[in-house]
Amino acid sequence: MGFVSVLAYAQKLVGERLQPGEIAVDATAGTGVDTLFLAQKSGPRGTVYSFDIQEEALNRTRERLQGQPGLSEVRLIAKSHHVMKEAVEPAHLGKIAAVMFNLGYLPGADSGVITLPETTLPALEAACRLLRRGGVLTAVLYPGHAGGGQEAHAVQDWAEQLPGAEYEALTYRFVNREATAPYLIGVSKRK
Ligand SMILES: C[S@@+](CC[C@H](N)C(=O)[O-])C[C@H]1O[C@@H](n2cnc3c(N)ncnc32)[C@H](O)[C@@H]1O
Repeated sequence: MGFVSVLAYAQKLVGERLQPGEIAVDATAGTGVDTLFLAQKSGPRGTVYSFDIQEEALNRTRERLQGQPGLSEVRLIAKSHHVMKEAVEPAHLGKIAAVMFNLGYLPGADSGVITLPETTLPALEAACRLLRRGGVLTAVLYPGHAGGGQEAHAVQDWAEQLPGAEYEALTYRFVNREATAPYLIGVSKRK
């Protein structure tokens, strides 16, 4: 049996931690795959915040959610993820079980609209502050497109300097594929 994909591994890390009724964030809604996953996991008593700077992404996410049973409340937010702390209800600060980032560009749309280190790094910082103890952050990195390698390095450097007493950080990466293949950074909050 092969290893699960990078995207599936991100969902595995989250699925093991996010409980029904909890709160989660999709920092990059895109086509809504992760938003739907989070909304199913957190269920009718839960809340999911889903951010994207492109209206098209939020529309695609809305369509994906339509008619799906047993979902949490989903708040679609047309803002950059670096303002997530201000966009989240004060009562939810420090209570969030999972934040998922899937960086890069929206498939099938303008590939010039990409996530950028200037906003990704503050968003990752904010996400760490929002997490509850035992909560998890995942970031899928795409070194293959212009600017993607720089962003992946910046995120990896950021994760490597997280204090070990407060966070565990890992990479999930296929080491015998091309160097530009997507890979994952996962961060778990210890306290
Ligand atoms: C690879 S896609 C995400 C794929 C998504 N997880 C899915 O299920 O399809 C990256 C998304 O990040 C969005 N994005 C780019 N910069 C952003 C920012 N500063 N804040 C929030 N979203 C951003 C893009 O518009 C794009 O939709």
